[in-house]
Parts: sequence; C-alpha cells; structure tokens
Amino acid sequence: MTTDTPLKTAARLSVAPMMDWTDRHCRYLHRQLSGRALLYTEMVTAPAVIHGERERLLGFEAAEHPVALQLGGSDPAELRQAARIGTEYGYDEINLNCGCPSDRVQSGAFGAILMTRPELVAECCAEMIAESPVEVTVKCRIGVDEQEPEEVLPRFLETVAAAGVTRFTIHARKAWLQGLSPKENRDIPPLDYDLVHRMKRDFPDLHLSVNGGIGSLEEARGFLEAGLDGAMIGRAAYHQPADILGDADRTIWGEGETVAAEEAVARMLPYIERHLAQGGRLHQVTRHMLGLFAGRPGARGWRRMLSEGANRPGAGPELVEAALAQVTDLRAAA
Ligand SMILES: Cc1cc2nc3c(=O)[nH]c(=O)nc-3n(C[C@H](O)[C@H](O)[C@H](O)COP(=O)(O)O)c2cc1C
Repeated sequence: MTTDTPLKTAARLSVAPMMDWTDRHCRYLHRQLSGRALLYTEMVTAPAVIHGERERLLGFEAAEHPVALQLGGSDPAELRQAARIGTEYGYDEINLNCGCPSDRVQSGAFGAILMTRPELVAECCAEMIAESPVEVTVKCRIGVDEQEPEEVLPRFLETVAAAGVTRFTIHARKAWLQGLSPKENRDIPPLDYDLVHRMKRDFPDLHLSVNGGIGSLEEARGFLEAGLDGAMIGRAAYHQPADILGDADRTIWGEGETVAAEEAVARMLPYIERHLAQGGRLHQVTRHMLGLFAGRPGARGWRRMLSEGANRPGAGPELVEAALAQVTDLRAAA
C-alpha cells in the first residue's frame, strides 16, 4: 500500500498534460469545477524553462493548486536546473514526460523514446530529486515500437523507482515512433489496462495512475475501486469539463458539491475581466470553455457564439453572458 500525502490524494483524479490545451486559463477553469483534482501544465522543455520567457511559460495563479509542472528533456543537468526553477515557481510536483511521441520531441531524444532508456530516466530523476524538494513523478507509456510491454514496463518502473520515484502515470498503450502521427498514437495502439493492474499488484508500494481512453467519472472511479491509486483524464476532461470535473469532488473524494456549468461560467467572469484588464484577449480564455455545455440543449449556440465572437476586437464578458443567457433560455423553454 502507498501512504497518502495530500498530493497523492489529489492524484486520485488528475487532468492530463496537454500541449496547447492545459495552459493556465484552462487550468483555472478546471479548478472552478473541481477543488480537488490534480492539474498538469502543458509540457515545457527543460531548455525552455532555463532560457525561455519564464513568466509566460511558468506563471500560474495560486488558485490552481495543486498543480504539477511537466518537463520534457533527457539531459540530467538541464532537468535538474529546470526542476529547481519549477519548484521555486511554486509547483507542487515536477513530472517528467516519457510518453510524448511527437517528431519534435523525438529529435530532442526525449518523450516516449525514453521508454528504451530506463537508466537515463533514472539518472534524470535522481538529479531532479536531488534539486527539488517537491515530488518528482513520471508519465510513461507501456512501451514503444517493437518493445514487449510485459518485459519493458516492469523493468522501467523498477529502474526508475530505484532512483527514488514513487508515483507514475501510465498511458496504457504503446507509442509507435515511426509511422503514426502524435494524434494517431493516442488512439490506434490498443489500450492494455490489465497490464497496469498487474503492475500495481507487482509494485504495491508505487502509486500508479492509469491514463488513456477514460471517458467518464464512473470509469475513473472503477479503476480506483479495482485497486489503482489514480486515474488521469485528458481529452474527455477538456471536451466535457463540466461532466468530468463538475462532480469529481463528490464522486472521487466524497466531499464538496457538484458545480454546474452555469456556475463555472459565473466563476470565470471575474477572471476574464482581470485577464482583459491586463491586455489579454477574450478568446484565450473562452476557447477552453467551448465544451462546458457539451451534450446539453444550447451547446451548439454556446460554442458558436463564443468561437465566432471572442476573437473580435473589444469582445468582453458581455459576450459570455449573452451566450449563457441563450443556453438558460433554451433550458427554460425545454
Ligand atoms: C492536444 C493534446 C496534447 C497533449 N500533450 C501532451 C503533453 O504535453 N505531455 C504529455 O505527457 N502528454 C500529452 N498528451 C497526451 C495526454 O496527456 C494523454 O496521455 C492522452 O491524451 C491519453 O489520455 P486521454 O485518452 O484521456 O486523452 C496530449 C494529448 C492531447 C490530446
């Protein structure tokens, strides 16, 4: 069994790191829906953290806690430095990406290709742990290309755990580094949840979260009831944030109340006003809100009003209020 820390408890349900999607505005929205879920940043490469525009890449609001910074890289010294900077920025966890198959990432020899180099991952993690007082975790696949997951995954977990990592998120499918696009790599290689369950049986002291293809809170809870320590949801949480996160605190942690999409919109308005006052654009926030009413009457109008209007010069919170009124009117008429 694993000993629960506040972060491990939060990791019972997490929202996956998603490049171009889980930026600070998206995370703020998700936090309005769930006070408890662990949120991940987009992947930021270690060199970008070290040399890039830090506030733009790493800045976040206190309200987003608990929030984890995902790093990409495979140079132990760079990752060590990046982990330190991330910790100083106030992140609750530093996560290393060993699952992303994109070309750009392959060329830098990190992401999923690291499944073939567990010793290097262990070395990177040891360096990060030495420098960072917060927990260092790893997100991985079950293998890449012709690797045999049954052999590769336990060896990977064992080797990296020996460096001091106690929490892993496993995207339960292989990545094919040649021939499949990053998008195809999220759907085509078959999911093997059983293997993740077996890993939990073989490594009971590790905190293991499962990721890949989870489409509802009930499914997530099913994994917890079956003995896994956490479930990480990516696309479904992004496309149907109210369905996945609005009831998460009650369903997963047995406390708090359901937050409806309407309530989340109301909570976003002051945030939007602040963002605009600082020179931001409405669209930067509302693009993450398009799925709030997914599957409900008015969803299409909500989506259309925001996607057509939020980019117009001068667009402000009144557009969001008008789009919301349209949803509420339709519901009243239904
Ligand atoms: C748009 C997009 C961007 C992603 N970017 C990252 C990333 O930066 N780091 C990472 O580890 N995984 C990334 N992923 C993969 C997700 O974290 C997750 O592993 C994958 O989507 C499977 O989970 P799901 O079926 O719940 O979406 C991305 C996925 C999507 C859809």
